Amino acid sequence: MNADPRVMKYFPATLSRAESDALVDRLEAGFEANGFGFWAVEVVGVSDFVGFVGLSVPRFEAHFTPAVEIGWRIAAEHWNNGFATEGARAALRHAFETLLLDEVVALAVPANRASRRVMEKIGMIHNAEDDFDHPELPDGHPQRRHVLYRIACRQWTTGRH
Ligand SMILES: CC(C)(COP(=O)(O)OP(=O)(O)OC[C@H]1O[C@@H](n2cnc3c(N)ncnc32)[C@H](O)[C@@H]1OP(=O)(O)O)[C@@H](O)C(=O)NCCC(=O)NCCS
Repeated sequence: MNADPRVMKYFPATLSRAESDALVDRLEAGFEANGFGFWAVEVVGVSDFVGFVGLSVPRFEAHFTPAVEIGWRIAAEHWNNGFATEGARAALRHAFETLLLDEVVALAVPANRASRRVMEKIGMIHNAEDDFDHPELPDGHPQRRHVLYRIACRQWTTGRH
């Protein structure tokens, strides 16, 4: 999945096996450090791994940090089956009912319409004033600009998206 250019289109590069394994190590360490992370997505009867969805803590500083971020990555052959949205709804429930967070954010490059659509489907709200330049990408990098979506616990409990 991490080596597939379709999946990594809105990231700086595809990942090698070593980089992908290092990402998994970081995700596992995140569970240890934070008590939450990106879960593997299993589709019962189809595949025991189609991608990951979950919560993480951005490692960089920006105007909205510290924050908890919701994110997703699904293997291309499984896109548009609602898997990211279903997983994201479960992750939001975990964030607000179990972790008792006040707010969850999500970020993407503006052109990543599928990811933004998932954010919208789960009730997240985009305010253009929150958009930011990703501090881990250099000036002039084509993916530096990011949109930020937010959802507050109070919006989730009233909306029940
Ligand atoms: C973003 C991603 C996780 C979505 O996964 P998914 O399981 O296909 O998502 P869902 O099926 O739950 O929902 C996708 C929605 O996006 C819509 N969509 C897909 N491609 C689209 C496009 N190019 N433009 C507009 N909408 C698009 C789908 O129609 C669907 O919306 P709908 O239910 O209203 O029809 C998947 O595309 C992916 O892994 N992309 C690469 C990794 C990535 O970019 N991750 C996010 C980084 S911010």
